[in-house]
Amino acid sequence: MHKNSTKWELVGSPITINKTVIKNRLTMAPTVKFDYAGEDGKVTSKHIEHYKERAEHGVGLICVEATAVTPSGRFWKNHMGLWEDEQIKGHKEIVKACHDNETAVIIQLNHTGIVSNPDCGEMIGPSAVPTRDENVYSREMSIEEIHEMQTKYVEAAIRAKEAGYDGIQLHGCHGYLINQFISKKTNHRKDEYGGDAKNRARFATEIIQKIRAKCGEDFLISVRTAGVEPTVDEAIKIADEYVKASCNYLQVSTGIEWDDSSVKARNPVYNDICELGVRFHEHFKDIVPVSCVNGLLAPDAVRYLIENKLVDTVDLGRALLADPSFSEAVLESKSFVKCYNCLRCQYGPGMPHKCPAALKR
Ligand SMILES: Cc1cc2nc3c(=O)[nH]c(=O)nc-3n(C[C@H](O)[C@H](O)[C@H](O)COP(=O)(O)O)c2cc1C
Repeated sequence: MHKNSTKWELVGSPITINKTVIKNRLTMAPTVKFDYAGEDGKVTSKHIEHYKERAEHGVGLICVEATAVTPSGRFWKNHMGLWEDEQIKGHKEIVKACHDNETAVIIQLNHTGIVSNPDCGEMIGPSAVPTRDENVYSREMSIEEIHEMQTKYVEAAIRAKEAGYDGIQLHGCHGYLINQFISKKTNHRKDEYGGDAKNRARFATEIIQKIRAKCGEDFLISVRTAGVEPTVDEAIKIADEYVKASCNYLQVSTGIEWDDSSVKARNPVYNDICELGVRFHEHFKDIVPVSCVNGLLAPDAVRYLIENKLVDTVDLGRALLADPSFSEAVLESKSFVKCYNCLRCQYGPGMPHKCPAALKR
């Protein structure tokens, strides 16, 4: 319907990623709802309504927010989880709400590592480095702990599959555990999980291989990866390892260290972070689909990126928080309430975090 009702050829056209058909090029970026989950990490009716509303308005793929693979891997105590079987039931409801609207749905799996909330557990990571409190150091994980942690990701993926998700996304950016292994700033290991790009990617590539073995060939495995760490070329080397391990989709955002003037030098179309996705797309064209994200708050920006084949899909965060019908604004030129770019949605529990644009609807 969308394809024929607009003058844009590509943005409303389907794309098949692995075996999952996504009806258009718009994907909802993972965006935590800080006050929705309880401390048990279970899905609530607020989550179900939240995702249902976005699916009803036609977004092609939803990536459900960062979901903890262990209770210790949370940023806040009320953070959604998939660390135990009792949590599967609620996820089935999210999946149903999406699939009833022909929206594909994956879930982002995460452990916060060295930036975990100390009230949730010990801050562990690839190396002993400063945590969110510069004076407090994380504890370096032993090889045995690394393997146990990988198993937690795999078990969470198996639960995701049981809930009916089309696949999972590994959270490999924004400074969380997988990204901490990737970044030389936080990974000082001398063993097979540190050193060159292949070794620093190993924590994630082994998770990908194990998920593939347990969840099957049809299961979509995406990595939300750091597009620069500290350079784009190095980040691409890491992503090459993910693809070799059978990752089907690269969703590109930022990492920990950024020391690369080549991004600005190309005078990016929208912003530097979107440009990372564009650079990745140039490298991975005809290999795996690539998405970009950041600051895409107006329909013409989204259309430009897709229609000019700069990326395969576009991830939308705040635009869809402000107005679930933003996808229809892109696909059918309908009116919408624009995100004010005020960042109040990023505040944590107990702080003011109502989206003023959403309140206007
Ligand atoms: C309220 C909020 C929650 C977020 N939660 C997550 C998350 O769970 N996982 C993640 O990878 N990024 C998260 N992000 C980052 C977004 O996915 C996205 O990359 C960022 O907002 C930039 O895109 P935008 O300009 O379209 O919002 C969050 C951002 C916001 C504003």
